[in-house]
Amino acid sequence: MRSETAPAIRLEDYQPSAYCIDTVDLNVELNPTATRVSATLSVRRQTGTPPGTPLLLDGDELTMVEIRLNGAPVAEDSFCADSDRLELKAPPPDPFELTLVTELNPDANTKLMGLYRSSGTYCTQCEAEGFRRITYFLDRPDILSVYTTRLEASKTDCPVLLANGNLSETGDLEGGRHFAVWHDPHPKPAYLFALVAGDLAEVSDTFTTASGTHVDLNIYVEHGKDDRCGWAMDSLKRSMRWDEDAFGREYDLEVFNIVAVSDFNMGAMENKGLNIFNDKYVLADPETATDQDYANIEAVIAHEYFHNWTGNRITCRDWFQLCLKEGLTVFRDQEFSSDMRSRPVKRIADVRLLKSHQFPEDAGPLAHPVRPRIYHEINNFYTATVYEKGAEVVRMLKTLIGAEKFRAGLDLYFDRHDGEATTIEAFLTCFEEAAEVDLARFSLWYEQAGTPVVTAESEYDPDRMTFTVSLGQEIPPVPGQKTSKPAVIPLRFGLIGPNGDDLEVSPPSGAEVAGDVLILDKSHQDVTFENIASKPVLSLLRGFSAPVRLNQHLEPEDLAFLAAQDSDPFNRWQAVQTLLMRDLVRLTALTRQGQAPTCSDNVIDVIGSALLDTGLDDALRALALTLPSEADVAQEIGKDVDPDAIHNAKSVMRNAIGNTHLETLRKFSAGPSGDGGYSPDAASAGKRALANRALYYVAASTDPDGFDLVWDRFASSDNMTDRLAALTLLVHDAMPKRDEALDRYRNRHQDNSLAMDKWFMTQATSPHHDTVEKVEALMKHPLYDPGNPNRVRALLQSFATGNPTQFARADGAGFELIAESVLEIDKRNPQVASRLLTSFRSWRALDPQRSALAESALLRVSSCEELSRDSRDIVDRTLQ
Ligand code: ARG
Ligand code: ZN
Repeated sequence: MRSETAPAIRLEDYQPSAYCIDTVDLNVELNPTATRVSATLSVRRQTGTPPGTPLLLDGDELTMVEIRLNGAPVAEDSFCADSDRLELKAPPPDPFELTLVTELNPDANTKLMGLYRSSGTYCTQCEAEGFRRITYFLDRPDILSVYTTRLEASKTDCPVLLANGNLSETGDLEGGRHFAVWHDPHPKPAYLFALVAGDLAEVSDTFTTASGTHVDLNIYVEHGKDDRCGWAMDSLKRSMRWDEDAFGREYDLEVFNIVAVSDFNMGAMENKGLNIFNDKYVLADPETATDQDYANIEAVIAHEYFHNWTGNRITCRDWFQLCLKEGLTVFRDQEFSSDMRSRPVKRIADVRLLKSHQFPEDAGPLAHPVRPRIYHEINNFYTATVYEKGAEVVRMLKTLIGAEKFRAGLDLYFDRHDGEATTIEAFLTCFEEAAEVDLARFSLWYEQAGTPVVTAESEYDPDRMTFTVSLGQEIPPVPGQKTSKPAVIPLRFGLIGPNGDDLEVSPPSGAEVAGDVLILDKSHQDVTFENIASKPVLSLLRGFSAPVRLNQHLEPEDLAFLAAQDSDPFNRWQAVQTLLMRDLVRLTALTRQGQAPTCSDNVIDVIGSALLDTGLDDALRALALTLPSEADVAQEIGKDVDPDAIHNAKSVMRNAIGNTHLETLRKFSAGPSGDGGYSPDAASAGKRALANRALYYVAASTDPDGFDLVWDRFASSDNMTDRLAALTLLVHDAMPKRDEALDRYRNRHQDNSLAMDKWFMTQATSPHHDTVEKVEALMKHPLYDPGNPNRVRALLQSFATGNPTQFARADGAGFELIAESVLEIDKRNPQVASRLLTSFRSWRALDPQRSALAESALLRVSSCEELSRDSRDIVDRTLQ
């Protein structure tokens, strides 16, 4: 016996709701184990609904205490209530008032959906379907209501009482209790509801909007953490200003509150006026947060704030439209970070993330379109495809129609759909009208799964003075999609002349070209440029103008030329990566044949040039020096993958680079002279990135000082970025005194759980052959807490996704560890478990021995009788 797969929900079955709910009045009497929620809903028939049509409300693990209709008790036989559904069989003439009283146990809520407690603080998570765990409701995003929330709690336990909107009333009650009433004037779907109650420290600031409205800003955190909120507050104010400047969007309430909690399933949540965050994306100081943490906080604070317009003011009609808010909002936060930092560095970082997270998703059993058409569990669709590929689609739209028309289209969208729950079609129509284009074919990007493979071959004819590029595109088959139609692919390009400058070219034949963007929209296209005096080098897909895999045949000399000369910084980086990747694939193959391979001179040379190139800033140089990850190489190889061989290939390359360029690398590894203290700005972060990247090579070289340099960085650094980089080298390279380093780190940071997450993660990602046993031991460590999602992710998720050789250890122990953990965690928190389970998604690409072991681990999960619908959905699809 196995648990049932949940029924399929299909886009084509969408029906508007028979009823709507205009207002929701909540009275929440908070108590750790018995919270009473009284909800009064004013319900109305939608036009077209016949009078007397039964009203069906969603519930999830609810206990009903009382039901009243227009203030009066309801006869037993006219309704039917169980834990996950309420039916009012023959509703009275509308509008009517339905009062429902439910009783909840926040302390017993380990799923962290609905109302739960995190370190004593009451908080909620309602997206996607958590509100139905609080009260019976039409829990769907196209039901928009005005909420008034009255909270009541013990004044000593919960001096802070928060909900959406503006505060309208507070007061004391008998028995040491007090209350607060919050009113949110903006109609919203239930998934944006939130409340918080607890004993929290408050960090306050203010913001004046462009039109002169005063807004109070508050960040609430556990006491003692308030001195780590400065960066988040600064990021919030910059986000608010930027959204006014870049998109003309102002904030719309008297107060904007952020609460940081330490137990949270995802990154953060954009509840109207009351964002709730995983504290990992709020808290930072130089002692405990890395440069990457600072950048993440800036991006996530911006992301949630930007949702106020793209998500909250305009929301999704149904959950199939999730990318309408997420793809667009990720695009907006990426643009924000690009404006705050270095645009090319941000672009490279985003593309690396896309290639390492989204491409494998798109190439495996969990592939789905940016707008899926079917789901069994919506929580499993908060994916890299919906978020990151969704953002790429918005970016392509801007590339195709140009910045001005893109802005005009968005303005029209904000104008036309403000206050609505809408669709991708309605969104695209705004751009069609504003830019006077037909986006019917472009919209295929929302419909088709899989990453298009673009091929490009070029030929120069000196007699005719023509340069011809033969382009092709194809999407390899993915589950449920054997064939596909050609997509509209914007290819930003340049033809580079021998002196390194872009040639001025007239529009070619064979493709539509606007400015420096060529449109590939057929499966094959020959594009010919005339009057080309000498053989150019084609720089294609500049800025990664489309989320595709590019197979372009370029000789090593051409790649070296692009790496040195391309005016597009992204393609300079890409050319280096292509050379490195080719060689890693070659070194891997040789390793598997039992040979002792050596790194090619091309690689040594291109890295040498990057080291010496004075035109590169520190951050770009650090990126040029970063080898493709082992997972990226595995993806490139695609089948019969042996992670040990890849690991070996990477070590060979690292050693060769370290030894050949030792002198320069040593110079760079010294880093910024330690004056002036730590600053999180992009330029300083770039210096640290370069120094630590250089140290990574020095540590692998024959330099007798290697260990001392690493140890010194670990022991004497004044910031987490440098300390963690050195600790990672000590542990991953199994250097002397690594255990002493781990002990020192633990003693220094044991009271800071975010810093301790890094301690767990560093050990879990070590390529050492005893890591599985280490992880098992760490699961028994007093600081390991299976109920804290951040800790589970730090130890288990990072092992499963960030440690290819040990997760896929040849004896299957890594797979077994994760399968067993998934089963354990699933009983407590299905969302965390199902996410961990997705780390098996590339199992079919492994060599036969490993894939058989992965399959048996998956089958073990699948045979469990009491699997959650979240994990059932993932395991079914992964095995299909
Ligand atoms: N809307 C949130 C964000 O991207 C994510 C919430 C997802 N939560 C979930 N349980 N699926 O900002
Ligand atoms: Zn979001």
